[in-house]
Amino acid sequence: MTTGDNNQPEAAESASSPAKSSEQSENERRIHSYEVQLRRLSSELALTEARERRAIALDLHDHIGQALAYTRMKLTRLKGNSVFCGFEDEFSELLLLLDQTIRYTRDLTVEISPPVLYELGLVPAIKWLAERAERRHEFKVKTRERGQPLKISEEVQILMFKSLQELIANVAKHTRATKVNIHITWQSDGLQIRIEDNGQGFAPQTTEIPVPAGDGFGLFSIRERLSCIGGSLVIQSTPHKGTEVTIYAPCSIVRQSDEDQNTSG
Ligand SMILES: Nc1ncnc2c1ncn2[C@@H]1O[C@H](COP(=O)(O)OP(=O)(O)O)[C@@H](O)[C@H]1O
Ligand SMILES: [Mg+2]
Repeated sequence: MTTGDNNQPEAAESASSPAKSSEQSENERRIHSYEVQLRRLSSELALTEARERRAIALDLHDHIGQALAYTRMKLTRLKGNSVFCGFEDEFSELLLLLDQTIRYTRDLTVEISPPVLYELGLVPAIKWLAERAERRHEFKVKTRERGQPLKISEEVQILMFKSLQELIANVAKHTRATKVNIHITWQSDGLQIRIEDNGQGFAPQTTEIPVPAGDGFGLFSIRERLSCIGGSLVIQSTPHKGTEVTIYAPCSIVRQSDEDQNTSG
């Protein structure tokens, strides 16, 4: 009886533990699927943002940019006759203002969505980023490309470009680097880009992602978005020696949902 009494809770416990563990694994499964969905959502949002930016940039160029250029042409013609009515200075002032506005609109268009990415592709766009960084910052940038280029989807192209833009911004923001090397390597099934700087590195030494100072498209977002498409981000850093960040994206990604859409459509 005593034995029976003693055994009862044990029996109840052993009966409830498989149930408990199956409940636990169900919860874990839910959390995992929730994480996957969140990554997909964030990736979708980034792609939508890039498409919207492209549409705005095209609109700016096609409408405002063209209208300004046309106005400038007309105004220049009128200025030729303005000497007769004493408005020459006013016309010169207007033309100067118009030139500044045209330049500003052009810079804004490029800043919103660089046309080189869509017109020439990822590698020329990375070279453009490198040249722009050299003009704006104190470091020299060397870009090298190796391997046989693969066809990449719009999603990977935008993701790799934005990631590299952030990694270059990090060098400018967080290091006193004087040299930056960008190695673009086409592998058999994907694209690897390594960016090395000779700045002060992370202190203490880490391969973990540090807590960001800002809330931009930081290392954490890059890693999350890349992992969503089967890619990766790896950091190697030595204090006072520099940092290496390697990003990788597989190249031909066909999502199940896309395939489903194609077969059902
Ligand atoms: N190339 C680098 N060299 C040294 N430290 C870096 C480098 N890149 C990033 N960091 C460190 O990692 C942190 C996280 O970077 P990130 O996620 O891009 O966020 P944020 O740039 O907004 O701070 C930075 O605040 C900085 O301390
Ligand atoms: Mg950053």
